[in-house]
Amino acid sequence: MIKEIKNNHLYWDGCDTVELAKTYGTPLYVLSETAVINECQALQASFIQKYENVRVAYASKAFNTLAMLKMIEREGLCLDVVSGGELYTAMQANFPAEHIEFNGNNKSLEELAMAIDYGVGRIIVDGIQEISWIQEICRQKGKTANIMFRITPEVNVSTHEFISTGQKDSKFGIPLDEAILFPVIQQAIDAPEIDFYGIHFHIGSQLDDNSTHLAAAKVALDLVKRIKEQLDYDVKELNYGGGFGVTYTKDDIRQPYSYFLDPLMELTESYCQEHHLARPAIVIEPGRSIVAEAGISLHTIGTIKDLPGIRKYAAIDGGMTDNIRPGLYQAKYEGILANKAEETLSETVTISGKACESTDILVKDIQVPTIETGDIFATFATGAYGYAMASNYNKLAIPAVVLVKDGQADVIVERQSYDQIIQNERIPDSLK
Ligand code: LLP
Repeated sequence: MIKEIKNNHLYWDGCDTVELAKTYGTPLYVLSETAVINECQALQASFIQKYENVRVAYASKAFNTLAMLKMIEREGLCLDVVSGGELYTAMQANFPAEHIEFNGNNKSLEELAMAIDYGVGRIIVDGIQEISWIQEICRQKGKTANIMFRITPEVNVSTHEFISTGQKDSKFGIPLDEAILFPVIQQAIDAPEIDFYGIHFHIGSQLDDNSTHLAAAKVALDLVKRIKEQLDYDVKELNYGGGFGVTYTKDDIRQPYSYFLDPLMELTESYCQEHHLARPAIVIEPGRSIVAEAGISLHTIGTIKDLPGIRKYAAIDGGMTDNIRPGLYQAKYEGILANKAEETLSETVTISGKACESTDILVKDIQVPTIETGDIFATFATGAYGYAMASNYNKLAIPAVVLVKDGQADVIVERQSYDQIIQNERIPDSLK
């Protein structure tokens, strides 16, 4: 049990969250190691061990820290990074280079050189210019690179438009148009410094319907067939991206991995059999589903503002700076008063952040027991894209992250100090 209610307190992976708030201060991210392990094991059972020649690359943009990457490696997953910074973290965690995939729609030459030097397993080429840049860097360094092409499969997903990426009008991926795509594929096949592996797509995030993954996979498989027919090349690998949705509130449906992966594998196998194609390796890239529900955030309630007949606001000591998702995507969250976990819900309040921004509302109109200054508000399912998207707006410090397991707690990210917030600032002589 990750979540338990005991002695009127919320416990998370065996730790009393009220004690965690006291010990480490708030705002605080708390991540359950057991929950992360459970997700990795679910992927092992329902995919990695169930099918031959498949891999899972954790999309680390959801939560990329040294400790997390160590867990991902230990649990037998590969890694997806999307920037020099994420790659650097992976390098510092000694993540095996051949198990790293490098995504991104505008990788700089420096980032590409860094990836090629480290010897990452795949570079996912996201635009037609990138292939020549990779060739040039490889030539200069006397190295080779394994590449995939990310395509836009032209499927429209049902999620917030800010997190859908598979539609034709997207900044991501190479258009499906053969006149654009086939010349760069031919270039990759011919280039001595490039090993062309295959096709990648990622259609969007927080999805609970498998039909769009299936439609996109069909597009990718058709490409495999056409590449065989027209370029006489056996595609070695397909990457079906991530996007598997999680439960933020009781209105969300969390589908098991098998709901997406079994039909995807069935389609892949049957398509390849029917068209006499060697079945390529299949890779998936989940981020959110591995870490979102493992994490909670703890905040302390400060000022309370009651507008009778209108609304009661209870302000927390963080907000959009540690969880921008409500402000950016109108994302909904659930939470409880961690220190009054068994008390009767008696009032409706709106949990507001402390940033100078009207959209800085964490949860609108939530039922809580009688709320008081000093209470600890715990928000559920903040493990993905919470810490990862944290900012220093209003010069608020980025909170600490504590990893908990069976009642043990370890700080895996220290709280930022004021000195760290201004450490890169300089005063020119003219202003001294
Ligand atoms: N692969 C690629 C190429 C991606 O762009 C993404 C997410 C993933 C995999 C992982 O998707 P996931 O399994 O986590 O859904 N900040 C937004 C989410 C942006 C996702 C961007 N790409 C949010 O907080 O909802």
